[in-house]
Amino acid sequence: MDPILQVKNLKVVHKNQKQDKTVLVEKVSFNLKKGEVLGFVGESGCGKTVSCLSITRLHTLNSNLSISGEIVFDNKNILDISEKGMQDIRGNRIGYVFQDPSGSLNPCFTIGNQIKEVLKAHNRLSKSSLSLTVDTLLKQVAIQDTHSIKKKYPHELSGGQAQRICLALALAGNPELLIADEPTTALDAVTRVQIIELIKHLIKENNLTVVFVSHDLELIQKLCQQVLVLYGGAVLESGFTKDIMKNPLHPYTQGLSKCTVHLDKEQQNLSSIEGTVPTPANRPKGCRFHPRCSQCFSMCREKEPPLFQLNNYRSVRCWLFEKEGF
Ligand SMILES: Nc1ncnc2c1ncn2[C@@H]1O[C@H](COP(=O)(O)OP(=O)(O)O)[C@@H](O)[C@H]1O
Ligand SMILES: [Mg+2]
Repeated sequence: MDPILQVKNLKVVHKNQKQDKTVLVEKVSFNLKKGEVLGFVGESGCGKTVSCLSITRLHTLNSNLSISGEIVFDNKNILDISEKGMQDIRGNRIGYVFQDPSGSLNPCFTIGNQIKEVLKAHNRLSKSSLSLTVDTLLKQVAIQDTHSIKKKYPHELSGGQAQRICLALALAGNPELLIADEPTTALDAVTRVQIIELIKHLIKENNLTVVFVSHDLELIQKLCQQVLVLYGGAVLESGFTKDIMKNPLHPYTQGLSKCTVHLDKEQQNLSSIEGTVPTPANRPKGCRFHPRCSQCFSMCREKEPPLFQLNNYRSVRCWLFEKEGF
């Protein structure tokens, strides 16, 4: 089966007023087949949101960003499509759940009206079938009391309800691809579990293809077949989630794995990765992770490693794997 989404060498560059260029994201490549769920994992500031926004070209609308590489969605390169053409793709074919649920709802309109507006933009429905569809959508995201929630304004919703509404809005256009950017970060632990179960259910029911973003490997493991580990704007490791969880190869992935809270295990020795993610303008020479890496050697300080392909499904950008990679 042909992939529904193929990203090749995605690069996103920011240009300031003095025309100085900073690379925000580079060397991001992946293939996603219909029905698959791919995860982006990495600490805050590693380029997850910038990569996701690129898929719908959302961040180039009002910012000095340029995207290069290829983003082939259903056999067409997103980077060659006109802005008008993109408007038809956003929402209708690619649904998006943003990182901040409350910020993506309009504070001035009731939930019922917001969902109606989005449905109207996507489909041509009569008034009666419109309210039926609003109810169907709300039920799909497991909102029981649809009548009262339709009359509420965003500030009257709990975090979990707001996230359910954002999911309903993202699904309103019946998209083939859903991008969900840290959809559970703002939620408490109990609500988080409920929303994850809901997303799992929606993926199955709607046969969705999904790009799912999280800083939490445990969550990625619950939902995604494949994972890309992003650090400092580039992919450091990629492969099947089960292989990466069983045997993380890159020292960064190993660090992330040690920081992960495993909800099903009682005794855990949690650690953290010392240091912080470099800003895009201050990435070090050599391997971008080397200043924080406990296994760093001289080569790592000098030269950036390529992505060593260990087999058809597993790659790692680390000099420790040079021999195995060739
Ligand atoms: N529009 C922008 N202009 C300039 N820099 C940006 C912009 N958006 C994001 N960045 C920078 O790009 C880096 C990656 O950001 P982001 O993709 O939001 O990280 P993540 O989602 O992994 O936390 C950060 O250092 C961030 O400050
Ligand atoms: Mg983000």
